[in-house]
Amino acid sequence: MVYHDIIECLVAALEARDPYTRGHSERVADMTLDLARRIGLKGAELEAVHIAAHVHDIGKIGVPDKILSKQDKLLPHERDAIQRHPKIGYRILAKSKKLKRIALMTLHHHERWDGNGYPSGLKGEAIPLGSRIIALCDAVDAMTSDRPYRQALSWQECWDEVVSCKALQFDPVLVEAAEGLWHMWEIKWPKRQAKKLKLLQSKEAFEI
Ligand SMILES: [Fe+2]
Ligand SMILES: [Fe+2]
Repeated sequence: MVYHDIIECLVAALEARDPYTRGHSERVADMTLDLARRIGLKGAELEAVHIAAHVHDIGKIGVPDKILSKQDKLLPHERDAIQRHPKIGYRILAKSKKLKRIALMTLHHHERWDGNGYPSGLKGEAIPLGSRIIALCDAVDAMTSDRPYRQALSWQECWDEVVSCKALQFDPVLVEAAEGLWHMWEIKWPKRQAKKLKLLQSKEAFEI
């Protein structure tokens, strides 16, 4: 689908700029597809959630490089600048009428089930379902990936963390659905991450 390809180009622009998140959007999009299918989403709804997962961090394009790549602890104004990325992403995507639903899912991907997220502090089912799915997959990918300031958690450690955040950070129904996928993810993702790392270390990857 051409539309899907164009979205992937937008994301490549973001990820070419920020090496640490390279591959993140693609992994979140793949996990989102697995989880959305698992809870029975189909057709246009499934496609919209999948695309929203690809673009969920597109607003980071509007965050200064200096802040985005900072490895030390963030100052409060720097944290605020990073936390503006869902709104920036929304503004970019909402320019297209066709992307309005996707823009809304992007806007709310950092909300929490208990209402303590951002930017709107939405609670429970008031958060779009697509945003709740992306939020869980986003956190799983972040926890299971190495970052410059910390090593990745094992999949078991990550699962313990997800369970401890059930009904606080994450939709409890989605945590239950993820349990059925965990074994498959645990095998699939480390293999794909290793493959990606090899690619990143090759010359072509730095020329995208
Ligand atoms: Fe984000
Ligand atoms: Fe993300």
